[in-house]
Parts: sequence; C-alpha cells; structure tokens
Amino acid sequence: MREPIIVRSIADLRAVINVWRREGRRIGLVPTMGALHEGHLSLVRLARTHSDRVIASLFVNPKQFAAHEDLDRYPRDEAGDAAKLASAGCDLLFAPQPAEMYPAGFATAVSVSGVSDDLEGAMRPHFFGGVATVVAKLLLQCLPDTAVFGEKDYQQLLVIRRLVRDLDIPVAIIAGPTVREPDGLAMSSRNAYLSPSERSAAARMNVILKRAVADLERGGEIAAIEHAAKLALDEAGFDPIDYVAVRDAEDLSALGARVDRPARILAAAWLGATRLIDNFPVLKRPAPGNDA
Ligand code: PAF
Repeated sequence: MREPIIVRSIADLRAVINVWRREGRRIGLVPTMGALHEGHLSLVRLARTHSDRVIASLFVNPKQFAAHEDLDRYPRDEAGDAAKLASAGCDLLFAPQPAEMYPAGFATAVSVSGVSDDLEGAMRPHFFGGVATVVAKLLLQCLPDTAVFGEKDYQQLLVIRRLVRDLDIPVAIIAGPTVREPDGLAMSSRNAYLSPSERSAAARMNVILKRAVADLERGGEIAAIEHAAKLALDEAGFDPIDYVAVRDAEDLSALGARVDRPARILAAAWLGATRLIDNFPVLKRPAPGNDA
C-alpha cells in the first residue's frame, strides 16, 4: 500500500500525467473536497476498475459556498485523507491552494442552466455555478479518460453530465452508488457536524424516502406522497425541509400525477445547523397485466 504522490501545482500535475500518457495508461479522476469517508473511497475503487492510474483531487472550492455557508468550518484532514486514499488505490492526490485554482484576475464562470435551476439550485443559487466552474477546470487540468461522481449528489451528477456533453469534454462520467451507514444514513462529510441526538434523527430521512419510493412504485399519487414524506421529516425533527421532490431521473423535469417513467425522489432538510440531502431511484410502475 503506497501513499499517493501529493501534487499542489497544475504544472506538476500535468508533468506526472504526461509521463502516464506516454506509458499508455488510462487515467481516472475522483474530484473531492476531502474529509474522506467510505463513500469517497468507493468512488476511488470504482475509478480503479476503469483506469490504470487514479487521481483524487482535494480542494474545498470556495466558489460553491455562499458567504453564510460552512466554508471555514468544512472539515479538513489532508494527512488522514492521503492515508485513506492509499488504501483505496489512489496514485496521485492533487491538493491545490485556492490561489492555484483561482489566481488574481480569475474572471470566468461556467454555468449550466436547466437541470441546475431547481431543487439545490433554487436553495443554493451560487452552488452549481461554483461546482461547474471547478469541475470544468479539474477535467481540463487532468484530461482523464473517466471521472467518477457519487449518486449521493444526484443533481450535481446530472449537471456534470450536461456540462461535459455541452463543452465536448472527452471524458466518460461514471456514477458511483451512495454508500450508507448501517442504519441507512447516506455517508457525507457533513455528518461529522451532527450531535448524537441529531445523528439518530438523521437516519429517519432514508427510511422516510424508502417508504415514499414503495408508495410511488405501487402507483400512489406523487403530490400526496411528497406531502406525507415532508410531514414525516417534520415529525422526525427536520426543520426546515428545503424540498422533497419526485422528478424525471434523466433531467429532473416534473412528472405528471404518478410515476410513468424512471424517476428519482430527492430531499434536502436541516437538523440543527446541518443540512442533509439524500435521494433514491423510483422505478416505473409496471402497466397492469404487464408485470409477470
Ligand atoms: O461533490 C463534491 O465533493 C464537490 O461538489 C466537487 C464535485 C468535488 C466539486 O468541488
């Protein structure tokens, strides 16, 4: 188990990548903001199955945090992250300083409209612009064959797929399944903020969403199920509830009264000062007589 090479400048990153390219290696990228947990490591392992060399980036991207958000208290542990990445098979950790990514005079913003407008985009208007800008930069800095993103941030995954298609960036985007704690709570670096009582309430979110999925797949009405899930989150102590929404799985457009194509249920809600998000797939209800 070898610790990854740690590189802080784009020039040094490209020098290593050039050597790998000359050797004919396939390169995978896993962008992260650090504070790594098993969810991130599963993405690194997934990247490894598609690549000969895996790069993880560690950059707490200021452009995706609003002034009132948790940029300053976002958990940081580079040494711990490097040790975890070694165990997952990462070859290179790219950990630039903000001035390397956004030098004085930086004036470009990447914006993806449509899929980023609603849900997270409505609650955090700066967020997807910041994500799209930094991910575009990371993809162009590394020019990997594949880049892996978690389904935990489902809307982000769709925004990045759109970005890559629209800008003709030659990379395959691979989705990694959400990794969960034994009680079903989706792993997140922000779970570290939860007090013990919030931590036990947090696990209700996945239970409530899974119940909603079962009701939707039985043909229940979307509006009623979204409403019931919000009530259940409220009873579990989530406050405020930013959204519970059932949407088209490909582009997050609104559906009719019931699920009639592959869909996703997505939720975001607060426990104290911590904002949690989660989502699950919803399969189309089999047409009557078609469910043999
Ligand atoms: O999902 C994240 O951790 C971040 O949004 C990402 C993709 C690394 C961009 O900063």
